[in-house]
Amino acid sequence: MKKIAVLTGAGISAESGIKTFRDSNGLWEEYRVEDVATYEAWVRNPALVNEFYNQRRKKLYEAKPNAAHFALAELEKKFDVKIITQNVDDLHERGGSTNVLHLHGELKKVRSTVDPELVYTLEGWELKLGDKCEKGSQLRPHIVWFGEAVPLIEVAAEISSDADIYIVIGTSLNVYPAAGLLNFVREDAPKYLVDPNASPMPWIRNLTTIREKAGTGVPALVNELLIME
Ligand code: APR
Repeated sequence: MKKIAVLTGAGISAESGIKTFRDSNGLWEEYRVEDVATYEAWVRNPALVNEFYNQRRKKLYEAKPNAAHFALAELEKKFDVKIITQNVDDLHERGGSTNVLHLHGELKKVRSTVDPELVYTLEGWELKLGDKCEKGSQLRPHIVWFGEAVPLIEVAAEISSDADIYIVIGTSLNVYPAAGLLNFVREDAPKYLVDPNASPMPWIRNLTTIREKAGTGVPALVNELLIME
């Protein structure tokens, strides 16, 4: 079976009603990264940071996977598919994908502030200040904040370099190290980028750019790949 690796960003969930970060009307227009998405912010004002993630978690419970998430699950019929997502939502899993790596953490999970191995799935949308891990420390969102290490980046790099086909969907490729993953992909591997605002990347070999929304562009691409195989 050929191996397909898929790198996704906020754009794939936009049509499910989840805001992206850097588009106009995106989350980083409403909030400052330094106020809600760094460890320093959590130490300075845990209530604000916690509320930011509680609100996003609440929205996630109202959201449903869209045609792009479902189409990627269909790809598994004929390919060995591995998804590397920068998204903290669980829409790939709910869309039926079975192999999903969350580079930037998972919104529905929380973890201990003294032992990063202690990760729990939260029941419902609300984490409360005062909710503690089994070792008695405050629980925090299971999110990779700006300035923190990305523990799964090496696994993601390996998946990228192993891929026969590489698909990038809905990411501005602004945030490293995720944005650098394309550099690990074999030069001869066909690559596809689905994003209505994709910028040209002439230095990437064998890249087909599909300037469409994920909800239409991804099902069309998936059909094409399934027919070709
Ligand atoms: N379909 C496909 N792509 C879309 C759609 C859509 N319907 N709507 C918007 N996009 C594209 C935009 O053109 C943009 O290129 O999605 C991309 C979203 O970019 P960002 O908001 O920068 O999101 P992302 O690249 O995932 O951000 C990376 O930054 O703040 C952090 O940790 C956060 O994981 C996130 C990381």
